[in-house]
Amino acid sequence: MLRALCALLGLTSAAIAAKFELSPKKFLTLPLGDIKPAGWLHDQLQVQTDGLAGHMHEFYDLVSKSDWIGGDSYYSYLEEAGSYWFNAMVPNGVLMNNSIINEKTQEFLEYVLENQDATGWLGPEVDTEKPRCLWGRYPFFFGAIQMVEYKPELTARVVDALHKFVKLANRMLRNGEGVDKWAATRWEDFVLTLQWLHDFHPRGEEELLVDTMVRLKWSGVPWEEVFSEEYFPTGPVENLTNPFGLELSWHGVNMAEGFKALPATYRFTHNQSDIDAANLSWDLMFKYHGRPSGAYAADEMLAGLEAVRGTELCLVVEAMFSGSYLYQVIGDLKYADRVERMTYNALPATLTANMWGRQYLQQQNQVAAQNMSPNPFPEDGPYSNVFGLEPNYPCCTVNFPQGWPKFITNAFLVTSDKKGLVQLYLGPFEVQTTLNEDNLVKVSVETFYPFGDNLNITITATKSYMHYIRVPSWIVGGSMTVNDGEKTGLVPDEVTGLLSVTIGKGLTKIALHYPAKIVIEERPHGSIAVHRGPLNYAFDIPRSEKIIAQDPREPHAVDLQMGPIGAWEYALDADPATMSFHNEAENDDHYKLPSPIFDSGKPSVSIAVSACSIEWPLAGDMFVTSPPENPECLGDVKTIQLVPFGATKLRISEFPVFAHSEPSLRVGNSYQIGDDSEPVQKPFNPTKPN
Ligand SMILES: *[C@@H]1O[C@H](CO)[C@@H](O)[C@H](O)[C@H]1NC(C)=O
Ligand SMILES: *[C@@H]1O[C@H](CO)[C@@H](O)[C@H](O)[C@H]1NC(C)=O
Ligand SMILES: *[C@@H]1O[C@H](CO)[C@@H](O)[C@H](O)[C@H]1NC(C)=O
Ligand SMILES: *[C@@H]1O[C@H](CO)[C@@H](O)[C@H](O)[C@H]1NC(C)=O
Ligand SMILES: *[C@@H]1O[C@H](CO)[C@@H](O)[C@H](O)[C@H]1NC(C)=O
Repeated sequence: MLRALCALLGLTSAAIAAKFELSPKKFLTLPLGDIKPAGWLHDQLQVQTDGLAGHMHEFYDLVSKSDWIGGDSYYSYLEEAGSYWFNAMVPNGVLMNNSIINEKTQEFLEYVLENQDATGWLGPEVDTEKPRCLWGRYPFFFGAIQMVEYKPELTARVVDALHKFVKLANRMLRNGEGVDKWAATRWEDFVLTLQWLHDFHPRGEEELLVDTMVRLKWSGVPWEEVFSEEYFPTGPVENLTNPFGLELSWHGVNMAEGFKALPATYRFTHNQSDIDAANLSWDLMFKYHGRPSGAYAADEMLAGLEAVRGTELCLVVEAMFSGSYLYQVIGDLKYADRVERMTYNALPATLTANMWGRQYLQQQNQVAAQNMSPNPFPEDGPYSNVFGLEPNYPCCTVNFPQGWPKFITNAFLVTSDKKGLVQLYLGPFEVQTTLNEDNLVKVSVETFYPFGDNLNITITATKSYMHYIRVPSWIVGGSMTVNDGEKTGLVPDEVTGLLSVTIGKGLTKIALHYPAKIVIEERPHGSIAVHRGPLNYAFDIPRSEKIIAQDPREPHAVDLQMGPIGAWEYALDADPATMSFHNEAENDDHYKLPSPIFDSGKPSVSIAVSACSIEWPLAGDMFVTSPPENPECLGDVKTIQLVPFGATKLRISEFPVFAHSEPSLRVGNSYQIGDDSEPVQKPFNPTKPN
């Protein structure tokens, strides 16, 4: 049957001959609970737990228990909201050892498993005319897998339920059922679950599992074509006709999830072309839609490079998760570098410091957060950049809480032979895990990174092993000291970016010095963005905040309008030699990072730049026009401070360059942009899609 299908679909015999095997991932994740956040990162997850994420189950109708069962609401328990919430709160609860959240997620799991119907269906579409669409369950599956990793005693029940569901899903796919527009764009998330079953609990069903993967792929969006040079949109898409007949293939969140499709496909086709296509997908996205924050612009649909276009919060957390997965399968440093940039810039920037309010869309240049007229977002509402409970659509309220927890659970990996431990993301962590041959390894990473350049790593191991540490592409002149040895330079592997350190039995101490240079990124209209290490630096616009709505069920859940109460119309001198980096925490052994860290005046790091006031008009009443080219200074050049983007809620991050400044002094940018030609629109029929 599979052979016939493969022939029909044009797969060659290679896929079949592999006897339903999957290609291995280069690196494997650790079970939930083995990696814990420490230091400021633990504090950050505590802030999330004390904020909206940790409390929404108490009052927010889309996930509070009273609504799990009421299958009428589109957002009821397994159709979107509950599923997203569960995926995020399983790791959040475990990483913070929060017994209330852990009980809630356990209760949710029990409820879903107990209500699996005789056909194998999981979800509220039982005894109803409602169509059964597959997608809503996929984030729930991710949550259930994490729970099994943490509590192995749940394995049999969860794996039984999943195998039953797979048999049903396979029949549905054969009958052309279950694939609505969301299942058609997000098929890869089910493929990942099928691959988890195949890797760890196949129960002799390898053929059915692979057959279901193949059917899912061919039931949905052909991501290798969407992300091809031929079809990929090189600018905003609102006036283009989607050639795939499914406009949602240009939807920012679907694409963020879709990044996983090609590496997942590779695992069952074993075809290098899928790896090459995955590689290209990442590069095209950030070349044509990338932001200095690390994320890309899609205010619903792909939105190009202009600094006032929006980036959806769901997109940020999904692209972070996908980037982690791409690294695990392919092992290319660029994925990890970008995940870190998104995590330390785009994610915190779009949440209030106390994490009770979130935007739907963030802007790279954002001079206000308020209802906007006219509206700069062609396919989202004018209220999309207000900070609150559920501006524009509720999906990001229930989905954003996966951001920090999944970053943490993907921060350390093991090599595919489970003999080596990989320290992928840099930040403060505590790890305890067992490598091959019962090698119990404990790692403690003390650091202020990304608000500091030094990492102290303490390792105890029962046996010798190879420890790998990522060296991001932005490190210049770094060094390492192991125990009392000589200071050495860093020589990482060119592809994976990993430095190898042989760890002996017993105690090992590693001190890393990871300095970086100030880097200028060229942006549209001759503007520039300023980076150092993983952080983008922005001008923090002094702001007023006004509560414009308050949820009657929870007084902390407020909608905040923000407006500028100081000048922001500055142009910079683009010469990095005129810029200087400062870190208050340096040389202060007693320094403690403040909490919450992502707010005005909190991070210890800043960059002083030469700037002058210029004329820079608003467009409409509350968003800014494109940065003016070669503006004249209205007054003297003075020094202003730029601070981490993630700590700003109103900001300028793409700056005009003032007229006298010498363009030849600019250093080349080390990121994705750097294409001098104007983005060319593809010759699709330029009419508004339906
Ligand atoms: C690999 O993919 C390419 C491009 O999609 C295709 O032409 C080729 O037949 C595939 N090869 C195998 C062995 O599946
Ligand atoms: C987790 O919390 C429980 C109480 O809820 C406590 O008994 C246990 O020691 C905690 N574990 C850790 C690792 O802090
Ligand atoms: C799309 O069309 C509208 C209406 O003609 C126009 O105002 C807008 O600038 C166009 N957008 C792009 C990105 O071309
Ligand atoms: C990804 O593509 C780039 C540019 O096309 C190429 O230089 C690089 O070698 C590719 N990486 C991998 C891992 O194939
Ligand atoms: C690393 O250890 C050194 C020596 O004990 C100490 O002075 C320094 O503050 C530590 N740095 C961090 C980031 O913990």
